[in-house]
Amino acid sequence: MSAIASAKAEARRRAAAVPTDYPTHDDIFRPADAIVADDTPGILQPSRLAWSDDARGLYLYHGDCLEVMDTIATKHPDGVFDLIFADPPYFLSNGGITCHAGRMVKVDKGGWDKSRGPALNHEFNTAWLERCQRLLKPHGSLFVSGTHHIIFSVGFAMQQLGLKLLNQITWQKPNPPPNLACRTFTHSTETVLWAAKNEKSKHRFNYADMKRANAGKQMKDVWTFTAPKPDEKTLGKHPTQKPLVLLERILLAASNSGDFVLDPFMGSGTTAIACVRLGRKFVGIEQTRIYVELAALRLEADSFTLVACVNVFVKTQNDLELSAERIDPISAMSTPGSPPHDCIFHETKFVFLSCAHVSHASIVHTTLNVTLQEAWAHAPDGKKRETTHIVRCETEILRVKSS
Ligand SMILES: C[S@@+](CC[C@H](N)C(=O)[O-])C[C@H]1O[C@@H](n2cnc3c(N)ncnc32)[C@H](O)[C@@H]1O
Repeated sequence: MSAIASAKAEARRRAAAVPTDYPTHDDIFRPADAIVADDTPGILQPSRLAWSDDARGLYLYHGDCLEVMDTIATKHPDGVFDLIFADPPYFLSNGGITCHAGRMVKVDKGGWDKSRGPALNHEFNTAWLERCQRLLKPHGSLFVSGTHHIIFSVGFAMQQLGLKLLNQITWQKPNPPPNLACRTFTHSTETVLWAAKNEKSKHRFNYADMKRANAGKQMKDVWTFTAPKPDEKTLGKHPTQKPLVLLERILLAASNSGDFVLDPFMGSGTTAIACVRLGRKFVGIEQTRIYVELAALRLEADSFTLVACVNVFVKTQNDLELSAERIDPISAMSTPGSPPHDCIFHETKFVFLSCAHVSHASIVHTTLNVTLQEAWAHAPDGKKRETTHIVRCETEILRVKSS
């Protein structure tokens, strides 16, 4: 048996071993029996739906984008996506050096980023662009990011395929890493090409929204955004992660709420997060397992918002009706019809104060996590005599499921 045949047999064996409760997506996007490269050398796996959320219309595929896009196209020959954002391999991990966190390091973003030479790189760019074009709805459009390593090939392939070029956007980074070799200017930009499906397309452009976002002036094709902020990488890092603001700008410019968006090189799922925040539906494809997992993790984390409720209540000793006092949880979410949530922190603290002196007040006693009756019962008699006021401070932190 040849190496490929035995790898395929191994992949089928592993696919058969996938637990039956693994999510599948049988209706529109289920890929065929495609066999794709995993990130582990020599291991092949079938493309599969790795994570989904039907309520929000989010589908993450682990697999090769060419295979998955072909499968989608068999079900949707006239296109299904309103917008595509593609951040393909730039093919720049070829032994050069760069500066990372102040240190000189080799550029090595992963095997997927190694160049196979201009001809094969162009063949690959043409292959995925042709599939993207097929999957766009008649008036849909496509954004592709890149640097000089691939962007000329991408632009040429777009022309060859008959896409309608709309803009060449420059993403300018105000704080780029220094150029260590000192043989060229410091690289501080990336290009984003925007194209419509074909010459007949009446592409969407939310002109007024863009003008409003630019303080009432026409939005230009130079956008200044810093690299992703640290809080965009708390769950894990991708070596070429895009900033969320860039994706939000693109979605706001060229799609509407409820639109269907595709990212064939999903990476850590930045496009997915932007879609969730702006109410777009999303299909993402990624061939490296750890990045699919990172994207799913980011989406899981983004499906909740934290709500903190603080309630402060003051009583004077004269007011104390200890026998009648009940401590009800403040829970802002306890009313019928409130969204699903769970309480991750709840604390009730009583602060006994002496405010008898006009000039100052002092804290006499504090106690945690008890009812007022218990707090009063456990306070030493001497402290009780000094107490003029009791402040109840209640804090609750809730994780609320986003709708
Ligand atoms: C430039 S990165 C995308 C980063 C992403 N925009 C983000 O913000 O995290 C390109 C990604 O495409 C994936 N990739 C490369 N070739 C692929 C293919 N043929 N099919 C699917 N994914 C591929 C790589 O594993 C890599 O994670």
